[in-house]
Amino acid sequence: MCGIIGYTGILDAKKVLTEGLQELEYRGYDSAGIAYFMDNTIKTIKQEGKVSCLCESVKETAAEDVTTCGIGHTRWATHGGVSTTNSHPHTFGKVTLIHNGIIENYKSLEEELQQKGMEPVSQTDSEIAAMVINDCYEGNPVKAIKAAVAKLEGAYAFCIMFEDFPGVIYAIRAGSPLVATHTEKGTIIASDMVALLKYSKNYFVLPEHHIARLTVDDITITNMEHQVVEPKMLHVNWDVASARKGGYDYFMLKEIHEQPEALKNTIGPRMVNDLPDFSEDHIPDSLFTDINRVIITACGTAMHAGLVGKNMIESLTRIPVTVDIASEFRYQNPILDKHTLIITISQSGETADTLAALRLAKENGSKTLSIVNVKGSSIARESDYVLYTHAGPEIAVASTKAYTVQLAAMYLFAFRFAYAKGLLSEEDTKKYMRKLENTIQTVEELLSYDEEVKPIGKKLKKTKDLFFIGRGLDYALASEGSIKLKEISYIHSEVYAAGELKHGTISLITDNVPVIALATQANVYAKMISNIREVRSRGAKVILITNADAHVDASLCDYHIMLPEMDDAFTPFGAAIILQYIAYYAAVSRGLNVDQPRNLAKSVTVE
Ligand code: AGP
Repeated sequence: MCGIIGYTGILDAKKVLTEGLQELEYRGYDSAGIAYFMDNTIKTIKQEGKVSCLCESVKETAAEDVTTCGIGHTRWATHGGVSTTNSHPHTFGKVTLIHNGIIENYKSLEEELQQKGMEPVSQTDSEIAAMVINDCYEGNPVKAIKAAVAKLEGAYAFCIMFEDFPGVIYAIRAGSPLVATHTEKGTIIASDMVALLKYSKNYFVLPEHHIARLTVDDITITNMEHQVVEPKMLHVNWDVASARKGGYDYFMLKEIHEQPEALKNTIGPRMVNDLPDFSEDHIPDSLFTDINRVIITACGTAMHAGLVGKNMIESLTRIPVTVDIASEFRYQNPILDKHTLIITISQSGETADTLAALRLAKENGSKTLSIVNVKGSSIARESDYVLYTHAGPEIAVASTKAYTVQLAAMYLFAFRFAYAKGLLSEEDTKKYMRKLENTIQTVEELLSYDEEVKPIGKKLKKTKDLFFIGRGLDYALASEGSIKLKEISYIHSEVYAAGELKHGTISLITDNVPVIALATQANVYAKMISNIREVRSRGAKVILITNADAHVDASLCDYHIMLPEMDDAFTPFGAAIILQYIAYYAAVSRGLNVDQPRNLAKSVTVE
């Protein structure tokens, strides 16, 4: 939520900032702004709307300004509506800042400041933070920041400029992410590595509660005791092209097509002599023998990957697995002990609720393992063990490739778990691994099903409500299909275990209501067919997805997508592609911005 960037160096800062904001736009896109030093003053340009609107404003109002130091922000509104006034940067007195996060006690701080005669102009918690820092400022920025953050409650990443210190940017974070790098052309800090990629593949994560001071030549980091701290450098092998659309209409479509590569990169390094191998991940087999229970906790799509993972882990190990929504898990006083393994799944590694769930698990002595895509992210750093997925940067708000690699990581985990516990023979483990490897080829093949799916997307152009039904693994997968459709096409959809429909919801099935039925599991196939007949006989338009060997009576459905030959346990990898395409083409047919759906942002760093 919200993308922030700061740059000081020898380049045109307005260009660096606006280009960086374009890379960060997936984090929030309701308004944007920049502030920069012009001689000894700070100028600010803010604009409601997308970053492209800001770029126009910058061209119109500040074409002549030459600056080499500034900060920029793209907003996902939390406190205060979408308006130019509420957009960042915010200035108060000598302080201009950008903020990602939420200051929870901003109301009481505002009252204190009002008693001292100060009035904010916006409705944001961020402006209050600027006021607090300014109030603490007596000429020493570090002292002011330190004193101010002692008063703040909540999550924040700030980049701050003080009018008295031209060319210098200060930054601090708690909860919200900030990564930085130093190049020959200056220093740069941002919410996400994608904004730094153009300048460097080496970066560091600013440690929490540490102050970074960026100048043209250097970044100095000090802790709260004013000691200088050396950051741990990290490296990504993503290239600039990986964060570009590369000829596709939308990032989402590009990312759908990147799935074979992402799967290869995630599975390949962990397949040694045809066996699952976590030596490079430093995950010892003792982890598996020490636990008697697994809890998977995550949000949204990542949680849906957990639902599929549960199925595989339980069926191979007979160890009980529960899957909890992270924002619920935190508040339900979960039963945790040292024999419980908490698996957190997160593409960004920064989702606030997932991070909080992880912290709770650690406090209660449970072991923690995370499945994360972004290297060095908070969830990765704070987990006992990390299984990195290698999807590369995922820019579209709708998660696609991150989901399939999360499935792959879950399956690898299940195979190694069962093998380490002696529940799966070497030969059987190898068989499973080969089947997992084969999914790469199948996913590749499924990418050419777009022509088959497009008409379904078009058919959904005017649809208001839709149902997904499935049983077992298909039910877990249907949850993902439903969220994908809702978030980008705005079609209301609900997902039902197919057998549950007749306990109430079938009353909503009337003439022409679309039902997407997943029937890829042989063990429940006959039951699924009965359930499909039930909705069909009430007038539903049925879009049916089956495995290759299904014999489907033409009267059963309006559209039938048959997956290529796959083992039933692996069909989520294949069916996911079809569901992603359905959501994508439905959104396109409705003329929507697929990559930037309304009200959403990619990385949810607020609770
Ligand atoms: C996916 O399409 C969603 N945009 C969303 O549910 C996402 O998966 C969720 O917010 C979790 O994000 P994370 O994987 O970065 O933790």
